[in-house]
Amino acid sequence: MTILAFTRAVSSRIAQCELTHLAREPIDVERARAQHAAYEHLLSDLGCSVQRVAGAEEQADAVFIEDTAVVLPTIAVMTRPGAQSRRAEVDAVAAALAAYRPLAFITAPGTLDGGDVLRAGRTLFVGRSTRTNDAGIAQLRAFAAPQGFTVSQIDVGGALHLKSAVTEVNANTLLVNSAWVDVRQFREWQIIDVDPEEPAAANVLRIGNALVHGVAYPRTRARLEAAGCRVHAVDVSELAKAEGAVTCCSVLVEL
Ligand code: GLY
Repeated sequence: MTILAFTRAVSSRIAQCELTHLAREPIDVERARAQHAAYEHLLSDLGCSVQRVAGAEEQADAVFIEDTAVVLPTIAVMTRPGAQSRRAEVDAVAAALAAYRPLAFITAPGTLDGGDVLRAGRTLFVGRSTRTNDAGIAQLRAFAAPQGFTVSQIDVGGALHLKSAVTEVNANTLLVNSAWVDVRQFREWQIIDVDPEEPAAANVLRIGNALVHGVAYPRTRARLEAAGCRVHAVDVSELAKAEGAVTCCSVLVEL
């Protein structure tokens, strides 16, 4: 199987990004770009074909490409991001994905951020958040049901997106910050909780049997490794100041 990993460059305007939970602080653009390049190299080393979608320079948050699309095996759902400033990001990503999947589009009044959609088996857990609303979830359900996916709504508190609080480790296991999301909603999955000292550590990017994880979370990484996971740590500290994490920086398409 080939995995395409679509990414977007770090804009020189990233310091003007949307922020929901963090206080604004200076972002070193060149350092952010170096970290992002290392992330892309890691995805390449893990077997992905990395393809940058051009035209991101004017869009402060465009590097967080995950929020623009939900890619399923036979369809790609283009989102309508909850932050008005991010809606212009979608067109270029749609143009890139159109070569690989038929496209469907979330439309007003629906809003949906890809960071709120966690695919686990044939379930799409969708966070109802400051970015994703009921209409957006209903539209996603209508697109996903014919593809054999069940949509399960999860209320998100304390975090920007659902995937700030829970991501997939393998087919049976989720990595969760149980302070931010109610784990009783995941009763069919085994749960690994983040270390309490690392609340932002629940975001892990699964590529086959490998996991990409922020280097800032050694305690949680130790929990993953104790469970037998192969973890590749990357430094995304500058992107984290913009409320970004490892899943946010790519859209994966399996061919
Ligand atoms: N800065 C990431 C976001 O708020 O969408």
